Amino acid sequence: MLLGVNIDHVATLRQARYALLPDSPNAEPSPLQAALDAQAGGGDSITIHVRADRRHMQDRDAFEIRKACPLPLNLEMGVTAEMTALALELHPEFACLVPETREEVTTEGGLDVAGRLAEVKACVERLQGQGIRVSLFIDPDLHQIEAAAASGAEMIELHTGCFANAAGDDLEKEIARLVAGAKAGHAAGLQVNAGHGINYTNLHRLFVVPHLAELNIGHSIVSRAMRVGFTAAVAEMKGLMAAYPGA
Ligand code: PXP
Repeated sequence: MLLGVNIDHVATLRQARYALLPDSPNAEPSPLQAALDAQAGGGDSITIHVRADRRHMQDRDAFEIRKACPLPLNLEMGVTAEMTALALELHPEFACLVPETREEVTTEGGLDVAGRLAEVKACVERLQGQGIRVSLFIDPDLHQIEAAAASGAEMIELHTGCFANAAGDDLEKEIARLVAGAKAGHAAGLQVNAGHGINYTNLHRLFVVPHLAELNIGHSIVSRAMRVGFTAAVAEMKGLMAAYPGA
């Protein structure tokens, strides 16, 4: 199981101080340095989300990371003309289409692929036409998985936010939804990834979910990095992920 390290919150911390001074030579911390540290810690790819409001990652970060970090880059993006143009110019290895609303603190639900199929399909085709592999960030709902397969995307990323926030019986239900979603995605020929809210303590509960090829993890790694450093935080997560039994 591969680890995509989401480094958005390194940029969040920088923007907290330097948002109004984008050219400051003192701007820190550096998302590029975090990407290189993630590589040193065994991360398999770097994930960044350039949001429409540019609240954390800036376009310049994306191009710097693309140029100077050898790991594959996964661009999370809203299904918009602006972001499609950015993706085509940046040319990451992967793009993950996500829903995006300006008010949300973080990505809240999965993309409504079923409700926006024509639009999503057109975006997938444009990206794939330039050799970018596409993932769709969706809730583990069977009709969304069917729609994802119909869109032509190669991958789905199952939204684990509800799993991460659940306890007791609700947690068992969320795990069961993820198991069913992973099986359905795999059966439909899709690579199955997962992400959102995964941390060092809840990770092991995902080990019963089959077919997981990659996890995208950000907030918990950036938080852990405050104590142990970025490279060690990534290495710890990779170490825990090694216990995944696989498909
Ligand atoms: N995957 C997607 C599609 C996301 O939007 C996010 C949050 O930016 C993540 C994974 C990572 O979530 P977290 O920061 O909670 O680990």
